[in-house]
Amino acid sequence: MSPRPTIPASGPLISPSILAADFARLGEEVRAVEAAGADWLHIDVMDGVFVPNITIGPQVVKALKPHVSIPMDVHLMIAPADPHLEAFAEAGADIISVHPEAGPHLNRTLKRIRELGAKAGVVFNPSTPVETIEWMLEDVDLVLVMSVNPGFGGQSFMASQLPKIERLRTMIDRAGLNILIEVDGGVTAVTAPQCVAAGAHALVAGTAVFKGGAQAYAQNIAALKSPVLAPA
Ligand code: DX5
Ligand code: ZN
Repeated sequence: MSPRPTIPASGPLISPSILAADFARLGEEVRAVEAAGADWLHIDVMDGVFVPNITIGPQVVKALKPHVSIPMDVHLMIAPADPHLEAFAEAGADIISVHPEAGPHLNRTLKRIRELGAKAGVVFNPSTPVETIEWMLEDVDLVLVMSVNPGFGGQSFMASQLPKIERLRTMIDRAGLNILIEVDGGVTAVTAPQCVAAGAHALVAGTAVFKGGAQAYAQNIAALKSPVLAPA
């Protein structure tokens, strides 16, 4: 049995979402967040069908790969996802996360992601039940809990998802499996400690990392790692 993940003493892993970066200077932006202490790089892939927005594809992942040494955490908001898994893996994605609603055979998709050499993630929309992965825990490396409806950065955190993080953490701990819990959407210095208290190991943050320009990135990331629970 693999060891269960724990939250490092330095705080949760921070995965800045490049959706909030300056798209005209992406290479510079990703180098800056890595230098500022980012643990992973979160890449939001949207197709204008599964979610109402269109962002980037595997070519951008490939172009950014040489600019960072931290893992590339690719969040696919596309349907179907299966025909594109190989392209993202070849482009350098280290983690590939898919929404169960994007295709009929989640387990096949997860197995394929691992076959391609990446970590397999399952994304929970605010309405996706935790039981979705109950019978395939062994095939999951990461769960990504959406704390907003996917499609846009800059939305408000849905506190209704905190009990879902707790439920997933209990399910994973009971199974004794090495599955990381990551939270995505509206993560700020106020909501980050709530996510960690509920059981999250990793946090995605776009707006909260990229605000204030490059000179603020280190301070912004440090604020998200701080274990201090602010009063509600
Ligand atoms: C939403 C994306 C998020 C988003 C986070 O669909 O999956 O990763 O960019 O942005 P903030 O941190 O601004 O809510
Ligand atoms: Zn995302």
